[in-house]
Amino acid sequence: MEGATGVMRKVASYISMLDDGELDLDRLLEKPKMNIERQRSFDERSFSELSIKIRPFDGFENMFSAGGARSGFDTPLSSATGRNSTEPHPMIAEAWDALRRSLVYLRGQPVGTIAAVDHAAEEVLNYDQVFLRDFVPSALAFLMNGEPEIVKNFLLKTLLLQGWEKRVDRFQLGQGVMPASFKILHDPLRQVDTVVADFGESAIGRVAPVDSGFWWIILLRAYTKSTGDLSLADSPECQKGMRLILNLCLSEGFETFPTLLCADGCSMIDRRMGVYGYPIEIQALFFMALRCALIMIKCDAEGKDIVERIVKRLHALSYHMRSYFWLDFQQLNDIYRYKTEEYSHTAVNKFNVIPHSIPEWVFDFMPTRGGYFVGNVSPARMDFRWFALGNCVAILSSLATPEQSAAIMDLIEARWEELVGEMPLKITYPALEGHEWMIVTGYDPKNTRWSYHNGGSWPVLLWLLTAACIKTGRPQIARQAIELAESRLVKDSWPEYYDGKLGRFIGKQARKFQTWSIAGYLVAKMMLEDPSHLGMITLEEDKTMKPILKRSTSWTR
Ligand code: GLC
Repeated sequence: MEGATGVMRKVASYISMLDDGELDLDRLLEKPKMNIERQRSFDERSFSELSIKIRPFDGFENMFSAGGARSGFDTPLSSATGRNSTEPHPMIAEAWDALRRSLVYLRGQPVGTIAAVDHAAEEVLNYDQVFLRDFVPSALAFLMNGEPEIVKNFLLKTLLLQGWEKRVDRFQLGQGVMPASFKILHDPLRQVDTVVADFGESAIGRVAPVDSGFWWIILLRAYTKSTGDLSLADSPECQKGMRLILNLCLSEGFETFPTLLCADGCSMIDRRMGVYGYPIEIQALFFMALRCALIMIKCDAEGKDIVERIVKRLHALSYHMRSYFWLDFQQLNDIYRYKTEEYSHTAVNKFNVIPHSIPEWVFDFMPTRGGYFVGNVSPARMDFRWFALGNCVAILSSLATPEQSAAIMDLIEARWEELVGEMPLKITYPALEGHEWMIVTGYDPKNTRWSYHNGGSWPVLLWLLTAACIKTGRPQIARQAIELAESRLVKDSWPEYYDGKLGRFIGKQARKFQTWSIAGYLVAKMMLEDPSHLGMITLEEDKTMKPILKRSTSWTR
């Protein structure tokens, strides 16, 4: 867990809720409209075919349907205990109660859920805050349950925080940066609520959360798709918010790759774990956020330029990722036989990866059928580790081709014991041990082998796995994973993570009643029950994005 202990010290990041900025957004805080009739299609369009003269919203009716199920627009309202018609699991009601207990209110309105409601924990650290990334499964649960107001409130509140001036010492952060988390302080005497936000300036390591803005965009699209309320995404405030986030990522610099260069610990893995450079998690979220933004950003005078830049970047990014991050048996064999020190355009080993750097475990881990996006690719460096979030988001966003998506699922099935074991799902595989752990984590005692970010098992990832399973037509895999989770989660009081090679032990420092473990379970259950919910969190394949690969790899055949 990152963050300063105790109350966060802030100068720039303080705002009183009576500040003026709040009022501008008040009109948007009306109840969202569940107006099905007015819904224009909110689906993806080919970014190749996109004419920037046309509003990306209009006229696209190819709703996603999984296994013939209806689309995810009209989520009917249901009871507070979820909407399982057939014998709801007893855990569901308990999970909803726990989720509601985590709600955070601002001036009487729910605006988010805190990371953990663990009264037994000795140190609160910043688990009493609303984390943007942690709120995503909560938001999806509420949307799927027909309760969009809280999601709208959250989107607007965080948008307001984006407008703050953010500093680390004397350095001013980019305008578009979204906070990692925020907290509401109630002053019962003065009767005012104060919001405190952390953009990385309080976080351990002082890293800004690159994923927050991407999740914000993804959630805005999920909200819009689920409710049919276009007015929020259409509002000048949200349009500007999206543009600011994307301006941070689409500006020109010295890059030779379309992937996004990041510091270590800038996403869910928010500690030093060798995820600096071009981590898969960020690249997959970047891709998904770009596609979601393309659907939502208006092609008006202010948006036209950014739409053009998004389209270009998507082309380059999907080509790069599908070509260079993809690893399967054939590709591994090719790298194993790579020549090095090749110069000029004819180079096959473009990044000069030294075959000797392939770790031993990969040769055993790689099944004959199956593949995955590796953790990182940069000059002379391939991080061969498996990262669950990035691979699942690659499937959901269709960054992975259908063949690659199927191959990722094949890998999960073939390596079930390693990646799922007794508790879904390993955040990364394998763990860093010994000397490598010392060097890469800087002797981090929280990230010892098979613990926490270093090969720990995170129940929150269940919703991503389930969504990926449904999208690839393999719901039975999700069912197995959910059964495993059900055998432990309530009994263990919804831990944040599990430790050990098989994920058998409640994590060393795991919080109990971790909100995203609870919400992740609910979302997984609701999607299995009604796969049409998937539409709010998936994007269909863009057929024009097939990679033109010269080398023979099994997924291109
Ligand atoms: C830990 C996790 C991070 C999460 C936070 C709150 O810091 O690494 O991903 O957002 O806890 O749950």
